[in-house]
Amino acid sequence: MNMKKKIVLGVLLAVIIIAAVGTYMYRHRFDKYEQSQKEQTAGIKAIGKDSRFLVAYFSWPSPDYPDLDATSGASNVVKDGHLYGNTEYVADILSKKLNADLFRIETVRSYPTEPKALLDETKVENASHMRLELKSMVENFSDYDVIFIGYPLWWYDMPKAIYSFLDRYDFSGKTIVLFTTHGGNRFCRTVPTVRKMFPKANVVQGPAIYDREIDKAEQSLDEWLKDNEFIN
Ligand SMILES: Cc1cc2nc3c(=O)[nH]c(=O)nc-3n(C[C@H](O)[C@H](O)[C@H](O)COP(=O)(O)O)c2cc1C
Repeated sequence: MNMKKKIVLGVLLAVIIIAAVGTYMYRHRFDKYEQSQKEQTAGIKAIGKDSRFLVAYFSWPSPDYPDLDATSGASNVVKDGHLYGNTEYVADILSKKLNADLFRIETVRSYPTEPKALLDETKVENASHMRLELKSMVENFSDYDVIFIGYPLWWYDMPKAIYSFLDRYDFSGKTIVLFTTHGGNRFCRTVPTVRKMFPKANVVQGPAIYDREIDKAEQSLDEWLKDNEFIN
């Protein structure tokens, strides 16, 4: 092989390696914030057999988003003629499988339905420390031992509706199982964030459903629930 060919081959190889490492680092850049398998399992094992479950969620179904970094995808599911937001859809499945009560977290102020306006508004909102007025409270909150809390990842974080919900209750002594629907970033830092807010709660990282795979949500949830012995 002559020198020129060797250089071309070397450059090509370097480009392939850099691209592969870059892709890996991009996809896994938030993994360090996620709970280890061991921590997850320990948190789930701590749930008592006779626990009462609540599934609470925030969801904002909208049409397909324009590209947002790596995060673009559909934010709704139509099933049996009903339009569900992705998180609403997942929450609905979880509540049925767990035989849990279902609570929709709704803000008094509504959000834009037009994707660009929604992205712009929530970008400003997420960067602030604001809290929002919520439409209703969970009745008999103290009756629940395990609260699944679901949200779409918004700007690498939980929507302010979730922070506002969390601020309203005392989760000490309870188990919080977080679940997300997302465009690729899974939980980002949200699990340690909630842990820090409630050091006396058992905070567990639950299922994360990729928005582009929302049609396979039921299967993934089944697997997660069985693997973690919530159902047989
Ligand atoms: C305002 C906005 C911000 C988003 N930010 C992120 C993000 O930072 N990371 C991510 O993975 N997905 C992001 N997404 C994608 C959503 O998390 C995802 O599509 C989710 O399934 C939407 O759920 P919903 O239909 O219940 O609202 C964003 C979507 C919107 C509308």
